[in-house]
Amino acid sequence: MKVRHIRKLFIEDFFTLKMFHEEHFYFYSISDKEFISYLSSKEYFIAGAINSFRLVGYVICLIAVDEAEIIYLCVHPNYRRIGIAAQILQYFIQNTSFLKKLHLEVIIHNANAISFYKKEGFIITHVRKNYSNGCDAYSMIKLL
Ligand SMILES: CC(C)(COP(=O)(O)OP(=O)(O)OC[C@H]1O[C@@H](n2cnc3c(N)ncnc32)[C@H](O)[C@@H]1OP(=O)(O)O)[C@@H](O)C(=O)NCCC(=O)NCCS
Repeated sequence: MKVRHIRKLFIEDFFTLKMFHEEHFYFYSISDKEFISYLSSKEYFIAGAINSFRLVGYVICLIAVDEAEIIYLCVHPNYRRIGIAAQILQYFIQNTSFLKKLHLEVIIHNANAISFYKKEGFIITHVRKNYSNGCDAYSMIKLL
């Protein structure tokens, strides 16, 4: 399914993004201050997928020179497995053609996300012990 559109999110989208995150991604707490920093700082790239005027997914990336870290990627539970995360990632890559590498950390128990990233061409480079709340995480990269 093609969502109606994917676009960059800005400070005007603060409440929409915050509410979406708190409803669907509450286990990764983000303070208002952090949201504002993500939405207003040049080094962050945030894109959202919009369907029928509603946010159904988003990505937050931190760009450093020619690399970017995917910090959060989340799709509304009712809209999963229809290619939205793949479309958001594609939009990000198309709009940051200067990047040479993407990287991220994902909890080793998050099989859905690991499966997604592998399908998108990411490879596991190493394990980070005690990454979050005592859980280990995989470090994954994709060369562009
Ligand atoms: C991971 C996540 C972003 C994937 O979003 P999505 O829009 O459902 O992903 P897509 O539809 O683009 O999936 C593409 C591929 O990823 C893999 N995949 C995605 N979800 C999967 C699942 N539940 N089980 C197995 N494979 C899965 C599949 O290979 C899928 O291709 P297929 O449907 O042809 O088999 C989504 O499950 C999510 O929001 N999870 C909670 C938040 C999270 O854990 N984020 C990642 C950590 S930052």
